[in-house]
Amino acid sequence: KALLFIMAAVILEENTSEAFDQGNFKKCDQSSFCQRQRNYKPSQSPYKALYSSLQSISGSHVYLDVVNTENQQQFTLDVHGMEDGMIRLRMNELTPLKPRYEVPNTIHEVGAQNFILTQNDANQTITMRLANNPTIHALISCQPFRFDVFDDSEPVFSINSRHLLNIEHLREKQAPKPPAEEPIKDETAEETADQLEAEEKEEKIEEKETSEDQPGMWEETFKTHTDSKPRGPESIGLDTSFVNFKHVYGIPEHADKLALGSTIGAEPYRLYNLDVFEYDLDSKAALYGSIPFMIGHNAKRTVGLLWLNSAETWIDVDSSDDSKGMLGTVFGYFAGQENVPEVNIHWMSESGVIDVYLMLGPSPKDVMRQYTTLTGTTYFPPKWSIAYHQSRWNYKDEDDVKTVDAAFDEHDIPYDCLWLDIEHTDGKRYFTWDTLKFPNPIKMQDDVAAKGRKMVTIIDPHIKTDANYHIYREAQAKGYFIQNKDGGEFRGWCWPGDSAYLDFTLPQVRSWWASQFALDIYKGSTLNLFTWNDMNEPSVFNGPEITMHKDIKHGGGWEHRHVHNMYGILQQASTVDGQLARSGGNERPFVLSRAFYIGTQKYGAIWTGDNTAEWGHLEYSVPMLLTIGLCGISHCGADGGFFKNPDPELLTRWYQAAAYQPFFRAHAHIDTTRREPWLYDEQYKNVIRGAIRERYELMPYWYTLFYQSHINGEPTMRPLWYEFPSDPELFAKDDSFMVGSALLVKPVVERSTWATQVYLPGKSGWYDVKTNQYFPSPNTISMATPLAKIAVLQKGGTIIPRQLRVRRCSALMTQDPYTLYVALDPQGKAEGEMYLDDGHTFNYKGIFNYKKLTFENNVLTASSLNNTASWETSSWLERVIVMGTRQPSVITVESDGATTNLGFSFEPNLRVLTIRKPGVNLQKDWKIQIN
Ligand code: NOJ
Repeated sequence: KALLFIMAAVILEENTSEAFDQGNFKKCDQSSFCQRQRNYKPSQSPYKALYSSLQSISGSHVYLDVVNTENQQQFTLDVHGMEDGMIRLRMNELTPLKPRYEVPNTIHEVGAQNFILTQNDANQTITMRLANNPTIHALISCQPFRFDVFDDSEPVFSINSRHLLNIEHLREKQAPKPPAEEPIKDETAEETADQLEAEEKEEKIEEKETSEDQPGMWEETFKTHTDSKPRGPESIGLDTSFVNFKHVYGIPEHADKLALGSTIGAEPYRLYNLDVFEYDLDSKAALYGSIPFMIGHNAKRTVGLLWLNSAETWIDVDSSDDSKGMLGTVFGYFAGQENVPEVNIHWMSESGVIDVYLMLGPSPKDVMRQYTTLTGTTYFPPKWSIAYHQSRWNYKDEDDVKTVDAAFDEHDIPYDCLWLDIEHTDGKRYFTWDTLKFPNPIKMQDDVAAKGRKMVTIIDPHIKTDANYHIYREAQAKGYFIQNKDGGEFRGWCWPGDSAYLDFTLPQVRSWWASQFALDIYKGSTLNLFTWNDMNEPSVFNGPEITMHKDIKHGGGWEHRHVHNMYGILQQASTVDGQLARSGGNERPFVLSRAFYIGTQKYGAIWTGDNTAEWGHLEYSVPMLLTIGLCGISHCGADGGFFKNPDPELLTRWYQAAAYQPFFRAHAHIDTTRREPWLYDEQYKNVIRGAIRERYELMPYWYTLFYQSHINGEPTMRPLWYEFPSDPELFAKDDSFMVGSALLVKPVVERSTWATQVYLPGKSGWYDVKTNQYFPSPNTISMATPLAKIAVLQKGGTIIPRQLRVRRCSALMTQDPYTLYVALDPQGKAEGEMYLDDGHTFNYKGIFNYKKLTFENNVLTASSLNNTASWETSSWLERVIVMGTRQPSVITVESDGATTNLGFSFEPNLRVLTIRKPGVNLQKDWKIQIN
């Protein structure tokens, strides 16, 4: 025991203070299934769909038998037509030895769409046209099996055209053979021809089975850990080509660029939730989250592909030049165009079935709608959670909390939420308090809440194995922990030392976990306390790759390997249930998770984990967050450098960038020096304060964006190409980003950058938000970026709401007045939206104010988009700034049947008009006329 303890202490020490060691994590050649799948390169696919087995199970569901002609294994093929131009392709073994794992509860019920079938007997092909999206059709070729999808008669997706479909069938483990003995032949007995043939066949199958047995199929060792693989090999592989695309995006989480790079001759991208501290940049290695969703984009079209799987997955991306044109020419499409590009993807997962969802767009918006129809849209965050958060490992005690909270007010810096990391607990027993440091947690929270602020405590999934700890005792008595491969409670090391891990795959465990958040069970908690689920990949310091052994058992008989990438989301989802239950379903939950998976957006926010306070990490936070947003998770952010101490310039630049990113939290490692803004020289402190205040001024815009994201799945932070889809200049651009469709942000990510080149796309012109200066577009401008400034521009043609009276926290601004920023395009037009509600309850489902704002013919109109009751507010319109207009003579406002004249001023050089105090209540519809 003593030895184990020392070992654990060493591991803990390593995890907290030593640099990232790449060798802790597998490369493809250290993963036998990745090797087998990557080495699988038949000249022609052995998979053949049996043309005569075609069945229309229903109008929207087509079925075929498939056979692997090499080993005679049989498979099912199901193709489903879905509403909104989506197609699902599924393959499983026809009669597997044991059921194969199918991901549960991830994809929402989506309406079916009928196919119109045409068969071509001579070619043995089947054409399936979507009845309501008739430009889209799929083509099944039977021999060899391949699946192509077309839109407007052009190939878009091509599946198994590279022959990489490879489903390892489940098999019995062969006992090692005794050395062959010469059979004693009865020379007198004559064998019949039939007998001879049967024997030969048997021999052949035996030969096949043994040759199919490759190293690592039944056991595999990495470092000191051996994976016993009781089910043997069951991996799957498939190629999916994006035809006529050069750019693909998605499959987070990697510390990589926005446009995915080629992996040929290098490591594939890997999806396997892992605790990788101080990670490398420009890498395809796995990080904390896994979303096997990919988007293809070209000037004409955007499409999406979801590979539904929760096991370890590797992905090769081949966009190399020599693959150009293959598919186009095969089909004779794109006549006259020699070079039709394509990006070929090779998906390789350790287990599961083939389950692919194809989304045909055709716009970026359409793909996001389709993807979030399948997987859910963003939860609607309480307003405070999209404001600024202050965290560090750790705020030490109640005094520390009080002092930090007060210092924000002294220095006139707003913040909404203060975080407590693991040291607040009694020996890393979550749901408890270190009573010496936090003797009065309720009073502490009440004091913070009295100013309108919230608190968060960390609640990790590893449970200290201590019979006196109520969580451990109860969960153990109920049998809620994950089991070892041979039965018995699985134990691993994490922050508390020896820990057991809850089996969140079981519904009874999830509801028990949720019940722990009840105010009378989680002692010292209040309705103003929210949750951070960290280490939920799950992190196991002494496990293989710092996570759980793949062969340990979950309830329901599945091994950890089958569910690994889903573990974290299940913890987060049940934490959300707990928060919902404790408020009687009234208050919107907030839960930050480190691990994530398909659909995480439904539950809460994520951040990019243990990065480093270095300029490169600031730079990569942009593509990382853009990618995560494109995969549905709108509420995401990055620490301002978790490891190491940022110098003041880096920290300042980080604040400026993060103020325009969706989840805005400062956080740092326990060994770093304190870095609250007031600890820096005046010049830095002032700029940091300015950045945070800019965020607060912009809260009405952010809140509207999150509402839209909740309704339609659009990311709040977006790549430029998302808003300007036909401009190829933008397809690989990730040094700048859009916040909604109105703001372009280019943060400074290099030291001493006092000017920057900004590419301004589109034709509607841009306005510098600090100076209101106008820049025509498309154009590349040089913009000064002194310490107090990064490039933020508002697009001509948009309207943004702001609240300029910044207070201590967002809750205090709920009833404050608003200012509208109207940036006119060259046609003198602009539009936008504005959403208001109480900011924290579910009343928003029926009670809110949602306005369409339009500027046209010198009239600014606010008209209701509500389909339900409006929310009572005393907020009023304080000011309207119109950029790019002419000198007016008279301005009037009309609301509730009354018309009033308004005061204004005009700045002729910049052509900026400021309309003073329209005074209208924001619940109302109104109209401002400029004459
Ligand atoms: C790892 C997390 O990534 C980090 O943010 C946190 O501070 C530590 N765990 C301690 O809880």
